[in-house]
Amino acid sequence: MNPKHSFMLYYVTIVSLLLLHYYVAMASILNITTDQSSLIAFKNHISQDPNNVLTKNWSHNTHVCNWVGITCGSSHHRVVSLNLSNMGLIGTVPPNLANLSFLNHLILPNNSFQGNLPYELASLHRLRTIDLRFNNLRGNIIASMFVSMTKLTTLSLAWNSFTGTTPCSLFNMTSLRILDFRGNNLWGSLPSNMFLSPSLEYVTFYGNKISGTLSSSVSNNSQQLRVVELRKNRMFGELPRNIFRHLPYLEVLSLSRNGFFGEIPDSLFSCKELWHLDLSNNNFTGNIPPGIGNLTHLKYIYLQSNNLEVICQEA
Ligand SMILES: *[C@@H]1O[C@H](CO)[C@@H](O)[C@H](O)[C@H]1NC(C)=O
Ligand SMILES: *[C@@H]1O[C@H](CO)[C@@H](O)[C@H](O)[C@H]1NC(C)=O
Ligand SMILES: *[C@@H]1O[C@H](CO)[C@@H](O)[C@H](O)[C@H]1NC(C)=O
Ligand SMILES: *[C@@H]1O[C@H](CO)[C@@H](O)[C@H](O)[C@H]1NC(C)=O
Ligand SMILES: *[C@@H]1O[C@H](CO)[C@@H](O)[C@H](O)[C@H]1NC(C)=O
Ligand SMILES: *[C@@H]1O[C@H](CO)[C@@H](O)[C@H](O)[C@H]1NC(C)=O
Ligand SMILES: *[C@@H]1O[C@H](CO)[C@@H](O)[C@H](O)[C@H]1NC(C)=O
Ligand SMILES: *[C@@H]1O[C@H](CO)[C@@H](O)[C@H](O)[C@H]1NC(C)=O
Repeated sequence: MNPKHSFMLYYVTIVSLLLLHYYVAMASILNITTDQSSLIAFKNHISQDPNNVLTKNWSHNTHVCNWVGITCGSSHHRVVSLNLSNMGLIGTVPPNLANLSFLNHLILPNNSFQGNLPYELASLHRLRTIDLRFNNLRGNIIASMFVSMTKLTTLSLAWNSFTGTTPCSLFNMTSLRILDFRGNNLWGSLPSNMFLSPSLEYVTFYGNKISGTLSSSVSNNSQQLRVVELRKNRMFGELPRNIFRHLPYLEVLSLSRNGFFGEIPDSLFSCKELWHLDLSNNNFTGNIPPGIGNLTHLKYIYLQSNNLEVICQEA
């Protein structure tokens, strides 16, 4: 290559690099601008901010990443977390939030967000945490909204007014570890694949209107399950004999205040880690199986208000 050509090549390379740099910078400015307008739209859907937190703090003069409740990613400077806990905010969750395309954590517990969750949130593929406990949200649990969030580990919609049935595909999600639906108005049966989730550790439907039997399939998959709480619902029927067979890490089981009947299945006593067992206020019958003596970690056991027979053994 003669010197002239080599100079040309050098020049072209430098210019391309500069252009590339410019485009990357522009792209990131445009994108954080998108994040900013999404958050401004969100703020506009908040009708009451009793402590004027957002009113004062979310101002055009400050960079979005310095706004209260906002965390940005360290490399790409996009909004990764929106956390506005305990602020007494009244408002709705607008579809614009779906433009926060880098969002990992959506954390709005203990406010008064109302209305339905916008279906557009389904496009937030990076979400790991959804914590909307203690709000006034309503509507059905729309499975397709959540199943595309393949990294979701926590879905907490507790203490709202969600209605309808529980979609079975929630239990097919491979990252989900915590499913907290306490204190809603869910009804219908629980899906039979509930104990087949490959990742679920903690599942609670405490205080809903769930009916039907616990006809869950049994497999080796749900090895991680530690807490199952179905207290205060409208479930009934006999527990399948093998239902607890492959739950070796189960620590907490609460089925109280339902209408379960029949005998306590023996498979329960293969759950060696169990320390909290509440079967009270049902219609269980028969003996308390002797296998209960094998549960060496048991600290709390509630069996009252059933029709169990206690057989006293002679010493
Ligand atoms: C907004 O809140 C953040 C975090 O609390 C604080 O660092 C910042 O100074 C506040 N900005 C304004 C303009 O109030
Ligand atoms: C959200 O913010 C609250 C209050 O600032 C804080 O206590 C809490 O730990 C945060 N939650 C998460 C998951 O970061
Ligand atoms: C909810 O937020 C209010 C302030 O808005 C606070 O006083 C209360 O302690 C919070 N409750 C919980 C359970 O965090
Ligand atoms: C943000 O989301 C809204 C509602 O989904 C949409 O209409 C709008 O075009 C989006 N804005 C940007 C800047 O992407
Ligand atoms: C869940 O996975 C099972 C098999 O693993 C499949 O048969 C079923 O169709 C899936 N259900 C949904 C709703 O995706
Ligand atoms: C559970 O695992 C055992 C051994 O790992 C295997 O023999 C059995 O077929 C599995 N059962 C189910 C229902 O997957
Ligand atoms: C238990 O059974 C009795 C009679 O069969 C019934 O009257 C009662 O309502 C049942 N209790 C519960 C908690 O389902
Ligand atoms: C309880 O433990 C004993 C001794 O380890 C064992 O023989 C028995 O099968 C166990 N019972 C149950 C119900 O697991």
